[in-house]
Amino acid sequence: MNFEVKNHHLYFDGCDTVALAQKYGTPLYVFSENAIVSECNQLKAAFTNRYPNTRVAYASKAFSTLAIYKIMAREGFCIDVVSGGELYTAIQADFPAEHIEFNGNNKSDEELSLALDYGVGRIIVDGLQEIERIQKLASEKQTTAKVLFRITPEVNVQTHSYISTGQKDSKFGIPLDEEILWPTIQKAIDASNIEFYGFHFHVGSQLKDNSAHLTAAKIALDLALEVRKRLNYTIKELNYGGGFGVKYLPDELRQPYEYFLTPLMELTESFCRKHDFPRPNIVIEPGRSIVAEAGISLHTIGEIKTLPGIRTYAAIDGGMTDNIRPGLYDATYTGVIANKADEAKTEKITISGKACESTDILVKDLAVPKVETGDIFATFTTGAYGYSMASNYNKLPIPAVVLVKDGQDALIVKRQSYEQMIQNELVPDFL
Ligand code: LLP
Repeated sequence: MNFEVKNHHLYFDGCDTVALAQKYGTPLYVFSENAIVSECNQLKAAFTNRYPNTRVAYASKAFSTLAIYKIMAREGFCIDVVSGGELYTAIQADFPAEHIEFNGNNKSDEELSLALDYGVGRIIVDGLQEIERIQKLASEKQTTAKVLFRITPEVNVQTHSYISTGQKDSKFGIPLDEEILWPTIQKAIDASNIEFYGFHFHVGSQLKDNSAHLTAAKIALDLALEVRKRLNYTIKELNYGGGFGVKYLPDELRQPYEYFLTPLMELTESFCRKHDFPRPNIVIEPGRSIVAEAGISLHTIGEIKTLPGIRTYAAIDGGMTDNIRPGLYDATYTGVIANKADEAKTEKITISGKACESTDILVKDLAVPKVETGDIFATFTTGAYGYSMASNYNKLPIPAVVLVKDGQDALIVKRQSYEQMIQNELVPDFL
């Protein structure tokens, strides 16, 4: 386990979190390299080592930094990027081009050019115009783009509606519509600078149930068969997306990867056997499950406000600016006072952020030991979509990020300074 308590302090991957807060300041994101690698190993055991012609593409929107791209490259994983910025970061980390998959529902020509120039492994096409733009750009550059079509599988999932993506009414993907889909597939097959690989779907995020993946996989496989029948073309690859749920609270269920992947692969292999169809490469794109539980956040408690008969608010030196998930998705978190990690819990507090926004509440009614100004609060499971969704609201600087491993610590993102926050601001002459 990556957590321990020594001398009343919370330790994470061998490091004293209170000492980390002192050394680097707060707010601070801390990632355990061992925890990330353990997720990678679980994915290898459940998927890539178990089935030939499979790949994991880490959905780097969950946490995109040079260091995580280095870790993914070392682990032999592919990555999914969704913008020029993520792609640029991956390029700066010397991430192997052919292991990059480029997603996104509105890629600009500039972003597509960057991807083609770098030679990314796959471009996942999300719309009809995009396919024409890719053909034009690829022919100008005398290169070939390897593409998948992201389809909208029309499945509903049990998760927050804001992170549900596979339903019929969605801005993502190409609809399964006779007049839209088929001419586009034909166009991709015929295009001289496009190699059409197959289909992609992503049904949603933070899923605890495998049924949506299975329904969508069946739809993608049927489509592959139909492409062979109608167009005499055999696709080579299917990408089943990510979305595997994690554990934010201690009593929450976390399904093992096998729960999703074993039935998915059984379905795929039996379908292919039955229809004498060569089993396509299967790719998955997990983001959250690789980094969420590998990251914690550290904050210092400042003002403590007791409203008699109502509640006690303990305010931290960050909040929705470094973790927007409670405010945006009603996401729930828990944590501990890191410098009193094994002391008896005698009171209940609500951890509030410092942003000027009523929804800036991180944890509600949490049992803790006696809370005091200066205590360090550690929030668990903030590794995914925390740093990557951080903002400068209220002109709060983006916090630093530290990577820990077996008692060693290293800064992987410096804290943003006030100077850096305004470095692109200008004052026009007429002011
Ligand atoms: N592939 C595609 C095409 C996606 O759109 C996503 C997530 C993933 C993979 C990775 O899904 P994951 O394994 O991380 O669930 N900000 C939200 C999550 C948005 C996810 C968007 N797409 C949150 O904090 O919950």
